[in-house]
Amino acid sequence: MKVLVVGSGGREHALCHAIARSPLLDKLFILPGNAGTAALGTNVPGDPKDVAAVLDFARREAIDITIVGPEDPLAAGIADAFEAAGLRIFGPTRAAARLESDKAFAKQLMRQYAVPTADARQFTDFALARQYIATRDEPVVVKATGLAKGKGVIVCDDPADAILAAEDMLVKRVFGEAGSEILVEERLLGREASLLAIVDGHTALLLEAAQDYKRLRDGDQGPNTGGMGSLCPSPLVDSGTLRVIQQQILVPTLDALVREEIHYRGVLYLGLMFTTAGPKVLEFNCRFGDPETQAILLRLRSDLLEILDAATTGRLDQVSVSWDPRPSLCVVLASAGYPEAVQTGAVISGLPAPGEDLVVFHAGTKRVGDQVVTNGGRVLGVTALGATVEAARQRAYAAVEQIHFDGQQYRTDLGLR
Ligand code: AMP
Ligand code: GLY
Repeated sequence: MKVLVVGSGGREHALCHAIARSPLLDKLFILPGNAGTAALGTNVPGDPKDVAAVLDFARREAIDITIVGPEDPLAAGIADAFEAAGLRIFGPTRAAARLESDKAFAKQLMRQYAVPTADARQFTDFALARQYIATRDEPVVVKATGLAKGKGVIVCDDPADAILAAEDMLVKRVFGEAGSEILVEERLLGREASLLAIVDGHTALLLEAAQDYKRLRDGDQGPNTGGMGSLCPSPLVDSGTLRVIQQQILVPTLDALVREEIHYRGVLYLGLMFTTAGPKVLEFNCRFGDPETQAILLRLRSDLLEILDAATTGRLDQVSVSWDPRPSLCVVLASAGYPEAVQTGAVISGLPAPGEDLVVFHAGTKRVGDQVVTNGGRVLGVTALGATVEAARQRAYAAVEQIHFDGQQYRTDLGLR
């Protein structure tokens, strides 16, 4: 099979790493890819959001299956365009991707189908939002309903903060159109996990749950980031909890999609919080999580390409999935200034050769001459398997200590506790 992976992050390198092992693979292209994916296939310059150009490339190269990493092309309708052209693609249509790209839509769907989630009210008018926030005693979360590059969620300690956040979004338009509508949401308390399912419209294949370390600094301090690392499996999701999630969240969500006549094909990502009242949905994403995917896929023993092939042809009920029993840990190395003011162009040294139990997934990297340099906020995801979480942790951090680039930032506490 000729395969095209769309995207350029650690998630896409991890997808390519898994796909490259498949006996079904003939040729792998990545658009645009990074220095890591270049070692596994052919990087193709281009912008994933330029749907017409991606489609044109896939047609020209007679790609058998296209796998979409990031949310933007999905929200822009890349799956619709491929389907209309008769090309196979793994990723939901624009209407289905609204589960991620329109938080008000997702919230309404959850409300209508009794999927546990935080209570929320929707506003486009700042005066009304301010009035509502001022009458609330409990802390709230203010969310831009559109796609805001992962920055559109403000967890507020008091009403004054929440009013400022609402003003930033509705009046100052700091997130542009994405914040022209907001949700003011009850703030939930608890620990979090990410649960991803591969869905073909009929069948859902659950992947092992993972934990995403969202805060920049040790001890879950500092600003929210795209994710500073991940652990798989999540210590919070045992088989009993998984059954509850399936019964109370996954099944009703898939049922809601069917009833709303939304054919969902792709990854359904549940961002969950475990509250004293049970698991609740914080958010849906319509794609593989980053950096969860790096830790999850290092444990996957099955053929990912076979699974994705089955998902795009409605045969997911015919495949099964098996896992390395060992846990895996991904430690993200980020650039100086991340997440606010990212500096790039630093030379990376000390990269280890990939092994069975340790892979350094590239994210924001590119090759310049015979050097690899930083090219984004999150640069590398050092991902290791170990007999225990502690063993995975030691293996990952031993590699981290060998790697250097100027200004590198990483957390030192991942996998502890
Ligand atoms: P999101 O961008 O939707 O993933 O949200 C980012 C983070 O904000 C989540 O991982 C949570 O830590 C936090 N968050 C979102 N919604 C809530 C909520 N209702 N209560 C508490 N924290 C939340
Ligand atoms: N790690 C969170 C996300 O992919 O959205």
